[in-house]
Amino acid sequence: MQISISATRPAAADSLAFLVRKDGISDLPLTASQIIRDGASAARFTGEAASVFETFVGEGDRTLRVLLTGIGGGTLQDYEKAGAALAAKLGTSGASSLAVEFPEGTEGEGVARVALGLTLRGWRMDTYRTRLSDKQKPTLKDVTLISDAKGAKEAWERLSAIADGVAFARELVTEPANIIYPESFVERCEPLKALGVEITVLDEKQMAELGMGALLGVAQGSARKPRLLALRWDGSGGSQQKPAVFVGKGVTFDTGGISIKPAAGMEDMKWDMGGAAAVAGVMKALAGRKAKAHVVGVCGLVENMPGSNAQRPGDVVKSMSGQTIEVINTDAEGRLVLCDAMHWAQKNFSPEIMIDLATLTGAMIISLGSEHGGIFSNDDGLAEQLLKAGKDAGDPLWRFPLSDAYNKLIDSPIADMKNVGPRGAGSITAAQFLQRFVENGVKWAHLDIAGMVWADKPGATWDKGATGYGVRLLDQFVSDVFEK
Ligand code: BES
Ligand code: MN
Ligand code: ZN
Repeated sequence: MQISISATRPAAADSLAFLVRKDGISDLPLTASQIIRDGASAARFTGEAASVFETFVGEGDRTLRVLLTGIGGGTLQDYEKAGAALAAKLGTSGASSLAVEFPEGTEGEGVARVALGLTLRGWRMDTYRTRLSDKQKPTLKDVTLISDAKGAKEAWERLSAIADGVAFARELVTEPANIIYPESFVERCEPLKALGVEITVLDEKQMAELGMGALLGVAQGSARKPRLLALRWDGSGGSQQKPAVFVGKGVTFDTGGISIKPAAGMEDMKWDMGGAAAVAGVMKALAGRKAKAHVVGVCGLVENMPGSNAQRPGDVVKSMSGQTIEVINTDAEGRLVLCDAMHWAQKNFSPEIMIDLATLTGAMIISLGSEHGGIFSNDDGLAEQLLKAGKDAGDPLWRFPLSDAYNKLIDSPIADMKNVGPRGAGSITAAQFLQRFVENGVKWAHLDIAGMVWADKPGATWDKGATGYGVRLLDQFVSDVFEK
């Protein structure tokens, strides 16, 4: 979908959309005829955000598709939802070019948000669908946003970089595990170099030399070799010495290992790298919009498989930090990967702020479903910043507690800790495990995004499937905290 912003309506457009405020049908310009207004009222269209009324009218010797799309109270989120609703309605509708009219006084940022909504909701991946019928194929190719509002083009330039980051995360998540595995995940990130991102990759041998026994223990059952990937963007011009560090769980497939998962639904575990995908996606967004901040994204990439060399329940592994771990359940692998990735990130980049993202526990889905990601933090200020960024960006979070009482639950009789606690509070004991690898003075937050990476039904700005959750949240956080 090609989006442009122009002061005039292109004559060729076969569809025309008017954005309408709540109860704003009477404010429509004269180009919208009385029959359109009457039709919309009869269909009980009132301009609620993301509602759409569609009809056809004669214009000269042709038939024009006309849509009224609600923007409710006219917040930026409403503009975005309206753009998304248009993409959902028109994507495969037969319409090929759309022009969008805005109500008087729409600012540049509002125009750009419509473009963002259109782009995000219009995203799809048809790589492996070679027999789509004509009716299933996307038709909407060009969209012209009719506006001369100040700053619209600049705002869209910034937002389109964010949309690119979201699309990249969705692509990584959607690809099956025979295509995206640790090495190929790294390859997909290589084009970020052209945007000015510095890339560091550690292979198995280098990780062994560093003593990453926890991460390598997970990887050892798989023929796919693990990787640790670091993506660094510094747009601060040297003014931000210590980077913010984001760490992502990148389990490219999670069978559970020897503690194998049930067959039903196991295919979902191709998206157990959604944390790493969000990290790669936000790095693409930040570099794409030349964010004035210094940020490092670290992805711990492994495949968790059973096999003759797989680790066994009861094995004790030594992490890079020196702490030892009794592996009670090989399916609690994400924390084993993250603990070494987090330790390495702190040793290499001395961050003041470290945020990890992971599809860490099924228990998080039991707690919050797919409406919020869970946040755990050792710092109230950081937690507040993330909660706010999540709300503003449309990637909402909900905070959970941490405490010594929970921490005790993962003490082990044979090693420094075990990788699972009792049945209760499974998401919290997972977070407590990670906290044992956070260095003194580092402000840390753990985001358990198990319920957010993949959607069973379409949402505001995504279709069923990969959502790209986390990219906009982290981008907003960087913008709020480092680019003020
Ligand atoms: N990747 C899973 C968590 C998960 C489950 C994410 C379902 C998304 C959907 C994780 O590695 C895992 O298997 N966790 C176990 C932990 C348990 C063994 C303590 C779980 O949640 O069952
Ligand atoms: Mn698992
Ligand atoms: Zn997992």
